[in-house]
Amino acid sequence: MKLIRISDHKSIVFFTGAGMSAESGVPTYRGSGGIWHQYRWEEVASQEAFDENPEKVLNFHELRRKSVLQCQPHPGHYLLARIEQECPRVTVVTQNIDGMHQRAGSRNVIELHGSLWRLKCAIHGISEDLGETFKTRKCSDCGAWLRPDIVWFGDYLSPDVTDEAARVINNCDLFISIGTSGVVYPAAGFPKIAKNRGARCIEINPEANEASYLYPETIRESASKGLLRLFENQ
Ligand code: OAD
Repeated sequence: MKLIRISDHKSIVFFTGAGMSAESGVPTYRGSGGIWHQYRWEEVASQEAFDENPEKVLNFHELRRKSVLQCQPHPGHYLLARIEQECPRVTVVTQNIDGMHQRAGSRNVIELHGSLWRLKCAIHGISEDLGETFKTRKCSDCGAWLRPDIVWFGDYLSPDVTDEAARVINNCDLFISIGTSGVVYPAAGFPKIAKNRGARCIEINPEANEASYLYPETIRESASKGLLRLFENQ
């Protein structure tokens, strides 16, 4: 594995999934101990579930917030934030909703699936809400239930967000995927854009998955170990 020299690259994308946060103690979705083994997403992560029982869905997301707040970013998160300071054309494109990259100091983060730390009223828009429990569960303007600003199953991703992600990936010459199973579309389609554009594509994941064939270079290690090894000369 050829180590990376940041100065050799004009634009770098880190594409992260739940495995990036796993080392911080945030559970993944599909692996052993994964959230979707414990909960049925149909009951807690869909618009239908929210329409039927908003309190149950909000309780589930409050539990997620509590568990994320008990976790801390790991050295891999901090490394990405430091690389961004050294090279302005570094973008984190993440499927994670936990805000861990931002807590570590990354600023250039595209959140494909939204954020646990924002709530949304269909009429009055999005508000930030950073506490362990929700400050309020209903919109102060119209009284409607506020829903987490998260892309649930059956939701469309925001076209503005996917367009921006596609643009940076289309222009990158180094694409590093970290800790994603690569099965949830449309996010899972992004690595193909990087590959087709001829970017150097590297996967960091302790386990192979159905997207691994896209990566000529793979590091079968945890997120932080893999990242620290890849950038050890920086
Ligand atoms: P998954 O739970 O599907 O996959 C997690 C991946 O992380 C697996 O490939 C693991 O092998 C890998 N992994 C586990 N521990 C790791 C570690 N320490 N270091 C590196 N990798 C590790 O999570 P995602 O691919 O992120 O969507 O799932 C995509 C989307 O599906 C999520 O954003 C979420 C989920 O349903 C929504 O909530 C909308």
